[in-house]
Amino acid sequence: MTSAEPTTARSPGITYQSLLDTDTHKVPDVLRLESPRFLGNEDVSKDRYTSREWHEREVEGLWKRVWQFACREEEIPDVGSYVVYDIASLSFIVVRTAPDTIKAYYNACLHRGRQLKDYSGRCTEFRCPFHGFTWTIDGALSRVPARWDFEHIDDNEFGLPQVKVGTWAGFVFINPDPNCGSLDDFLGDLPQHFERWDLANRYVQGHVHKTINANWKIAQEAFSESYHVNATHPQALPYLGDTNSQVDIWDNFSRVITSGGIASPLLGKVATEVDILRYMLDTRVDEEVFIELSPGQTARETSAAAARERWRSVVGDGVDDWSDAEFIDNLDYTLFPNFHPWGAYNRIVYRFRPNGDDHRSSIMEVFLLAPFKGERPPPAPTTYLAAEDSYTMAAELGMLGKIMDQDLFNMPKVQKGLEQTIKPGVTLGTYQESKVRWLHQLLGEWVEG
Ligand code: FES
Ligand SMILES: [Fe+2]
Repeated sequence: MTSAEPTTARSPGITYQSLLDTDTHKVPDVLRLESPRFLGNEDVSKDRYTSREWHEREVEGLWKRVWQFACREEEIPDVGSYVVYDIASLSFIVVRTAPDTIKAYYNACLHRGRQLKDYSGRCTEFRCPFHGFTWTIDGALSRVPARWDFEHIDDNEFGLPQVKVGTWAGFVFINPDPNCGSLDDFLGDLPQHFERWDLANRYVQGHVHKTINANWKIAQEAFSESYHVNATHPQALPYLGDTNSQVDIWDNFSRVITSGGIASPLLGKVATEVDILRYMLDTRVDEEVFIELSPGQTARETSAAAARERWRSVVGDGVDDWSDAEFIDNLDYTLFPNFHPWGAYNRIVYRFRPNGDDHRSSIMEVFLLAPFKGERPPPAPTTYLAAEDSYTMAAELGMLGKIMDQDLFNMPKVQKGLEQTIKPGVTLGTYQESKVRWLHQLLGEWVEG
């Protein structure tokens, strides 16, 4: 097949849309959208993961120009609270300068260049630790020790250079490009997709920050398709419709929806509903299943009902308007280039980025955004994990830790394989891996222009 020929091939078994027809509650319109996009089927050059030159082009063409998630608003709750946001070789200070104003600056002193802040925190001014040049949190020059020696400095031209800031759903984004378009334009319809799920009214229940010995895209792509489930997470096959996933591509965002509570088409035999439930709950045949199945009831609706009751205790009876799908399916959204808020009533948000200026190392973060009753609880402290640490060391991840360790196990080995293979590119499935291809297509446009 050539890249000019689109394909409509799909996995055997129930489609995601047919599965939605069986929901016990009304399914929202956002889940009824379908947007498959044929993006070609050429190999993607391995240089994108291994070459220093490509990394440097990413810094210039992408990270210096694109809207990117810097922090949650509640990480900077007070005037003077700031976060140091690093991306590749770049560093920025994101600071609340008034109750409803957030600004961002290059994290570098205008005297001899020392970075102004080494860690996130709270301050009344930015005072450089080297010689003491000082700026207000609004970025105006306020003090120069031995001012007589700097008559050549014009205070008005010595304000801290700013980068653009935008917010959506409690997330603070920055863009270093002074000529960039608005964040709203960049997001497109993404806010409409998330309208029901209201990520603004969540709190950071957990935040895990992990170093990974692989390029940031290798880490990110491991969470951009469900095709890997059969070999990487085989324990999930009895209750995950992996190859039945629906993949939707829009302009700057995309999603993969993988249904829970049904068996994989790859199993080759139909599991009973009780079996599916047992696998979901990780119980053995000699153990009691703590959720009962009445005759005719499916594992899918039963586990969704249990999740609905868990959320009811926090957010009230509005949960009766939420579909089973929203509780039990995996709605993995990605906003280009590296921001992954899961849709519906899941708590997960991922972010992937290069680890400093090392293109063979990356940082993966998991934010758990949970609903709350009454006053918003303060954000949980960050758990830092080194490259050799297991995700199970982050207790806040619960069961997820074991699953993410399975993903993690592949990543440095993908990097190693790509470094030495004689094959010049990676090959992608036309439909199931189209979200990976979407990332590379946009990346090519940003980096190669
Ligand atoms: S480098 Fe900052 S005051 Fe000198
Ligand atoms: Fe995975």
